[in-house]
Amino acid sequence: MERTFIMLKPDAVQRGLVGEIISHFEKKGLKLAGMKLIQVNRTLAEAHYAEHQGKGFFEPTVMYIMSSPVVAMVWQGKNVVVLARELMGATNPANANPGSIRGKYGMDISRNIIHGSDSVTSAEREISLYFKSEELIDYPKAG
Ligand code: CMP
Repeated sequence: MERTFIMLKPDAVQRGLVGEIISHFEKKGLKLAGMKLIQVNRTLAEAHYAEHQGKGFFEPTVMYIMSSPVVAMVWQGKNVVVLARELMGATNPANANPGSIRGKYGMDISRNIIHGSDSVTSAEREISLYFKSEELIDYPKAG
Protein backbone atom coordinates (compact mmCIF):
# COMPACT_ATOMS: atom_id res chain seq x y z
CA MET A 1 0.00 0.00 0.00
CA GLU A 2 1.21 3.49 -0.86
CA ARG A 3 2.72 5.63 1.91
CA THR A 4 3.57 9.32 2.22
CA PHE A 5 5.65 11.41 4.60
CA ILE A 6 3.86 14.30 6.31
CA MET A 7 5.48 16.80 8.65
CA LEU A 8 3.61 19.28 10.82
CA LYS A 9 6.01 22.21 10.85
CA PRO A 10 7.02 24.36 13.84
CA ASP A 11 4.19 26.85 13.33
CA ALA A 12 1.56 24.07 13.46
CA VAL A 13 3.01 22.78 16.76
CA GLN A 14 3.45 26.30 18.22
CA ARG A 15 -0.10 27.31 17.32
CA GLY A 16 -1.70 24.17 18.77
CA LEU A 17 -2.99 22.94 15.40
CA VAL A 18 -1.61 19.39 15.61
CA GLY A 19 -4.85 17.64 16.57
CA GLU A 20 -6.97 19.61 14.15
CA ILE A 21 -4.66 18.90 11.21
CA ILE A 22 -4.35 15.20 12.02
CA SER A 23 -8.16 15.05 12.01
CA HIS A 24 -8.19 15.98 8.31
CA PHE A 25 -6.13 12.87 7.52
CA GLU A 26 -8.11 10.59 9.83
CA LYS A 27 -11.48 11.79 8.55
CA LYS A 28 -10.35 11.33 4.94
CA GLY A 29 -9.97 7.64 5.80
CA LEU A 30 -6.19 7.39 5.60
CA LYS A 31 -4.29 5.10 7.93
CA LEU A 32 -1.58 6.33 10.31
CA ALA A 33 1.51 4.12 10.04
CA GLY A 34 3.98 6.12 12.18
CA MET A 35 4.19 9.34 14.19
CA LYS A 36 6.68 11.16 16.43
CA LEU A 37 7.47 14.61 17.82
CA ILE A 38 11.08 15.46 17.01
CA GLN A 39 13.56 18.30 17.10
CA VAL A 40 15.13 18.39 13.63
CA ASN A 41 18.91 18.96 13.56
CA ARG A 42 20.87 20.63 10.75
CA THR A 43 22.00 17.34 9.16
CA LEU A 44 18.42 16.12 8.89
CA ALA A 45 17.04 19.51 7.78
CA GLU A 46 19.64 19.82 5.00
CA ALA A 47 19.03 16.24 3.87
CA HIS A 48 15.28 16.82 3.83
CA TYR A 49 15.56 19.94 1.65
CA ALA A 50 18.60 18.76 -0.40
CA GLU A 51 16.81 19.33 -3.72
CA HIS A 52 16.47 23.05 -2.83
CA GLN A 53 20.17 23.54 -1.99
CA GLY A 54 21.41 26.72 -3.71
CA LYS A 55 17.99 28.37 -3.81
CA GLY A 56 17.43 31.61 -1.88
CA PHE A 57 14.88 30.06 0.45
CA PHE A 58 17.04 27.01 1.35
CA GLU A 59 18.77 28.42 4.45
CA PRO A 60 15.66 30.18 5.90
CA THR A 61 13.64 26.99 5.34
CA VAL A 62 16.31 24.86 7.05
CA MET A 63 16.47 27.33 9.98
CA TYR A 64 12.71 27.38 10.25
CA ILE A 65 12.21 23.60 10.53
CA MET A 66 14.98 23.48 13.17
CA SER A 67 13.38 26.31 15.18
CA SER A 68 10.98 24.21 17.26
CA PRO A 69 9.74 20.60 17.31
CA VAL A 70 7.86 19.11 14.38
CA VAL A 71 5.48 16.16 14.15
CA ALA A 72 6.74 13.59 11.63
CA MET A 73 4.15 11.15 10.33
CA VAL A 74 3.65 8.42 7.77
CA TRP A 75 0.16 8.02 6.32
CA GLN A 76 -0.91 5.08 4.23
CA GLY A 77 -3.69 4.43 1.70
CA LYS A 78 -4.51 4.07 -1.98
CA ASN A 79 -3.12 7.07 -3.90
CA VAL A 80 -2.13 8.70 -0.59
CA VAL A 81 0.61 10.97 -2.05
CA VAL A 82 -1.87 12.80 -4.28
CA LEU A 83 -4.71 12.72 -1.73
CA ALA A 84 -2.48 14.22 0.96
CA ARG A 85 -1.38 17.01 -1.40
CA GLU A 86 -5.05 17.81 -2.07
CA LEU A 87 -5.76 17.92 1.67
CA MET A 88 -2.75 20.25 2.21
CA GLY A 89 -3.46 22.67 -0.67
CA ALA A 90 -0.93 24.71 -2.66
CA THR A 91 2.59 25.26 -1.22
CA ASN A 92 1.87 28.98 -0.96
CA PRO A 93 -1.05 29.32 1.48
CA ALA A 94 -2.01 32.54 -0.31
CA ASN A 95 -2.92 30.42 -3.36
CA ALA A 96 -4.30 27.41 -1.49
CA ASN A 97 -7.93 26.37 -1.74
CA PRO A 98 -9.68 27.88 1.30
CA GLY A 99 -10.92 24.41 2.33
CA SER A 100 -7.42 22.93 2.39
CA ILE A 101 -5.14 22.79 5.44
CA ARG A 102 -2.81 25.55 4.20
CA GLY A 103 -5.79 27.55 2.92
CA LYS A 104 -7.49 27.38 6.33
CA TYR A 105 -4.53 27.90 8.64
CA GLY A 106 -1.70 29.64 6.75
CA MET A 107 -0.84 32.96 5.13
CA ASP A 108 2.90 32.76 4.43
CA ILE A 109 4.89 30.48 2.04
CA SER A 110 7.84 30.32 4.43
CA ARG A 111 5.62 29.25 7.38
CA ASN A 112 3.25 27.01 5.50
CA ILE A 113 2.14 24.69 8.35
CA ILE A 114 2.74 21.32 6.76
CA HIS A 115 5.03 19.38 4.42
CA GLY A 116 3.99 16.40 2.31
CA SER A 117 5.98 14.32 -0.16
CA ASP A 118 5.50 15.34 -3.79
CA SER A 119 5.84 11.83 -5.30
CA VAL A 120 6.04 8.18 -4.30
CA THR A 121 9.83 8.32 -4.84
CA SER A 122 10.18 11.39 -2.58
CA ALA A 123 7.97 9.69 0.00
CA GLU A 124 10.26 6.67 0.17
CA ARG A 125 13.32 8.92 0.57
CA GLU A 126 11.73 11.17 3.19
CA ILE A 127 10.24 8.28 5.21
CA SER A 128 13.67 6.66 5.40
CA LEU A 129 15.21 9.95 6.63
CA TYR A 130 12.81 10.21 9.56
CA PHE A 131 11.79 6.63 10.40
CA LYS A 132 13.38 3.24 10.92
CA SER A 133 11.36 0.46 9.31
CA GLU A 134 10.47 -0.98 12.74
CA GLU A 135 8.87 2.35 13.70
CA LEU A 136 6.22 1.89 11.02
CA ILE A 137 3.27 -0.31 11.93
CA ASP A 138 0.89 -2.09 9.62
CA TYR A 139 -2.41 -3.14 11.18
CA PRO A 140 -5.99 -3.84 10.14
CA LYS A 141 -8.20 -0.77 10.13
CA ALA A 142 -11.99 -0.76 10.00
CA GLY A 143 -13.86 1.60 7.67
P1 CMP B 1 7.69 22.34 1.54
O1 CMP B 1 6.53 21.63 0.95
O2 CMP B 1 8.13 21.91 2.89
O3 CMP B 1 8.94 22.26 0.53
C1 CMP B 1 9.90 23.29 0.38
C2 CMP B 1 9.62 24.44 1.31
O4 CMP B 1 10.37 25.61 1.09
C3 CMP B 1 8.19 24.87 1.11
O5 CMP B 1 7.30 23.90 1.65
C4 CMP B 1 8.16 26.23 1.79
O6 CMP B 1 7.91 26.12 3.18
C5 CMP B 1 9.60 26.70 1.63
N1 CMP B 1 9.68 27.87 0.77
C6 CMP B 1 9.99 29.10 1.18
N2 CMP B 1 9.99 29.95 0.15
C7 CMP B 1 9.66 29.24 -0.96
C8 CMP B 1 9.50 29.55 -2.34
N3 CMP B 1 9.66 30.78 -2.81
N4 CMP B 1 9.14 28.56 -3.18
C9 CMP B 1 8.96 27.30 -2.73
N5 CMP B 1 9.12 26.94 -1.43
C10 CMP B 1 9.46 27.90 -0.56
